[in-house]
Amino acid sequence: MSLFDLTGKTAFVTGASRGIGRVIAVALAQAGADVALVARTTEGLADTATDVKAAGREAVVIPADVTDQRAVARAVATAIGRLGHVDIVVNNAGGSNFMAGFRDLRLDGWEKLMRLNLTSAVYVCHAFAPHLLDRRSGSVINVASITGVAAAPLISPYGAAKAGLISLTKTLAVEWAADNVRVNALCPGWTATDLNRNLWDDQVAGPATIANVPMKRWAAAGEMAGPAVFLASDASSYLTGQAIIVDGGQTINT
Ligand SMILES: NC(=O)c1ccc[n+]([C@@H]2O[C@H](COP(=O)([O-])OP(=O)(O)OC[C@H]3O[C@@H](n4cnc5c(N)ncnc54)[C@H](OP(=O)(O)O)[C@@H]3O)[C@@H](O)[C@H]2O)c1
Repeated sequence: MSLFDLTGKTAFVTGASRGIGRVIAVALAQAGADVALVARTTEGLADTATDVKAAGREAVVIPADVTDQRAVARAVATAIGRLGHVDIVVNNAGGSNFMAGFRDLRLDGWEKLMRLNLTSAVYVCHAFAPHLLDRRSGSVINVASITGVAAAPLISPYGAAKAGLISLTKTLAVEWAADNVRVNALCPGWTATDLNRNLWDDQVAGPATIANVPMKRWAAAGEMAGPAVFLASDASSYLTGQAIIVDGGQTINT
């Protein structure tokens, strides 16, 4: 267990008001970390903060829109100020709220999804860079997706943004490795959250969506907790620049 112990560490998690981000924030707290919680919805952040405190750790609630560069800079400064320092940065906020073939795609939709799923992480990493590099310590976890490593029909902006996030992960891993800052991507497969309730909650679409998943089921958000704690902790101390795929085997044959 000590390999995964985060006692004395602090974390910054975006998209912490629900879904995978909430699970990761609470798991980091249960492993010993104090956590700054970032999202737009204060009620959801308050619920996550309750769970973090129940684990005996400090929760700093920071309402912010990660697509707003100034808001991100303020959030990062607040987290460092309130927690003293930050060791673990989880860029989890993201998602896709429409499906369209590329021919029918509205270009403002493309730009919105790139900003939410890629540029937001650029803002966070850029704001944290001096802090992490000057301290010569840190683990950055970018929550990408299997759509970033394969084709993403009907969700091309989302897939391109996640592929870009994996590229950013690899480049920062190389640029920051000598300063002891590790950067990895966590790539979930189909995970039942509010993001895709319209699919898994549907008797036809639910099973059809995961028909080519060898494990023959949707992931629960909680199944992203272990990989995230692993990437945050010394258990992965020689692991950087990787895209860790957690998809029930879906991409094995792609
Ligand atoms: N679920 C899946 O199948 C799946 C698969 C692969 C990858 N992922 C990725 O995993 C991550 C989490 O997804 P999820 O399934 O947990 O989705 P979710 O349940 O919809 O949660 C998304 C989180 O992101 C936050 N968020 C959205 N826009 C934001 C903004 N502009 N500023 C700040 N926070 C924002 C939301 O909080 P507020 O609305 O309160 O701001 C919420 O906390 C995403 O990056 C997603 O792309 C999910």
